[in-house]
Amino acid sequence: MKLCVINGPNLNMLGIREPDIYGRTTYADLCTLIENYAAEQDIDVDIYQSNHEGDLVDKIQACYGEAAGIVINPAAYTHTSVALLDAVKSVAIPTVEVHISDVSQREDFRQVSYIRAACEKTICGHGLNGYIEAMDYLLEKLAD
Ligand code: DQA
Repeated sequence: MKLCVINGPNLNMLGIREPDIYGRTTYADLCTLIENYAAEQDIDVDIYQSNHEGDLVDKIQACYGEAAGIVINPAAYTHTSVALLDAVKSVAIPTVEVHISDVSQREDFRQVSYIRAACEKTICGHGLNGYIEAMDYLLEKLAD
């Protein structure tokens, strides 16, 4: 079984960007955490990051017929992108939305999530462990 983990803009700057909000763990460390967990669970994982909305749409489309589940942190595109919402609806693959920070406690403009309507679950404010929780949710669901 393969899961795809997709990260949006500026998440490649983890560990450098706003450490008070996102912590000091780097993006490379996040990838290692996800890869190690996938290995433990004996599944394949494809990890992708882009700063470009269209590339993220392309990646979601490429999951069709390839990935059994998607974990996505669309980052700032969460709050703006109908294109990402439509892409997730198009492929109809079980998808979990993850945010490292608790967006519900932040600025007003972060209270809107377009992609949420196409996601089975949203995990906010659990730090990097949110990605693992999202993988666990999909593993349990897909095992049924
Ligand atoms: C984020 C929250 C978004 O509002 C922000 O634009 C990000 C990261 C998070 O993981 O907490 O870039 O998705």
